[in-house]
Amino acid sequence: MLSTMVIHLKTQPLFVLLLSFIGFITFLRNFIIFLKWIFITFLRTPKNLVQSYGSWALITGSTDGIGKAFAFQLAQKGLNLILVARNLNKLQQVSSEIKTQNPNIKVKIIVVDFSFDVTKGIQEMKKGIEGLDIGVLINNVGVTYPRAMFFHEVDENIWKNIVKVNLEGTTLVTMAVLPSMIGRKKGAIVNIGSGASIVVPSHPLFSIYAATKANRNWSFFVGKFLQTKSGEPEKYMLLPSYEIHTREFFRFLCLWYNSSG
Ligand SMILES: NC(=O)c1ccc[n+]([C@@H]2O[C@H](COP(=O)([O-])OP(=O)(O)OC[C@H]3O[C@@H](n4cnc5c(N)ncnc54)[C@H](OP(=O)(O)O)[C@@H]3O)[C@@H](O)[C@H]2O)c1
Repeated sequence: MLSTMVIHLKTQPLFVLLLSFIGFITFLRNFIIFLKWIFITFLRTPKNLVQSYGSWALITGSTDGIGKAFAFQLAQKGLNLILVARNLNKLQQVSSEIKTQNPNIKVKIIVVDFSFDVTKGIQEMKKGIEGLDIGVLINNVGVTYPRAMFFHEVDENIWKNIVKVNLEGTTLVTMAVLPSMIGRKKGAIVNIGSGASIVVPSHPLFSIYAATKANRNWSFFVGKFLQTKSGEPEKYMLLPSYEIHTREFFRFLCLWYNSSG
C-alpha cells in the first residue's frame, strides 16, 4: 500500500507534490490546534490558583461588570481578594456579598480613583498590599467615551481621563504588584482589553479608547499575560456574559501556563 503510494507520488509533477506538502502541513497544524482545544475544554483538570500563583488576587474596578464577576470567580477558587474601585459603599457591598458566599476567604478593600490623584491612590494601595503574596492581578478598570465619536469630537477632559485611567492607572498598579511576583517567581497578570482595538483596526469612532486598549495588547475580550517559560505574552478572547466567561477564562489561565517569574 505504502509502496503504491510512493510510486504514485513519483509520477506527479513537482508543483503538485509541493502543494500537497503545504496542504498537509496546514491540515496538521489545524488538527493540532483542534486537539489542544479538545484537551483544554473537556479533559484537563484546573490548576490550584493559590498554589500556582499566590493566595491573594487584586482586581481593579471590581464593583461592577467584568471586574465584579472576576472577584466572585476568584473567591470561589479560594483566593483572598483585594478589591479596588473608587466608591467605598459599593466596595463594602461587594465585599460583604463575597464574604457571605465564601466565608473562608479574606477581602480587603482599597479606594482609588484612577481619574483623580492616581499617584496618591497608588501610594495608599501599596501600603494596603504590603506583605501580601498577590498571585493574580486583574487590570480591569477602564473607561471609554459616553458615545461613539470621531477623533476631533472628543472633549479634552474625556480623552485625558481615558488615558489616565486606562494607561496611567493600569501601568502604576502593575508596577506596584509586579516586583513581588518577580521576587516569588510566580504570578499572573490579566489585562482587560477591548474589541475596539482589534475588530476594527484603530476604531474610527473610539480611536483614543482603542489606542489605550491596544497598549494593553489584548482586546474586547480578555487578554492575559503571564511571564511564561518562553517569556511570550498570551492572549485570549472572552465574550460576555461576565459570569460564564470569567469562569471559562480560568480554564485557560489554569491550563496553559507554568509561571516562572
Ligand atoms: N462591558 C463591555 O462590553 C466591555 C467591552 C470591551 C471592553 N470592556 C472593558 O472591560 C473592562 C470592564 O468593563 P465593564 O463594562 O465591566 O465596567 P463597568 O461595569 O463600567 O465597571 C467599571 C468598574 O470600574 C470602576 N471604575 C470606573 N472608573 C473608575 C475610576 N476612575 N477609578 C477607580 N475605579 C473606577 C467602577 O468602580 P466604582 O463603582 O467605584 O465607580 C466599577 O467597579 C474595562 O476595561 C472595559 O474597557 C468592556
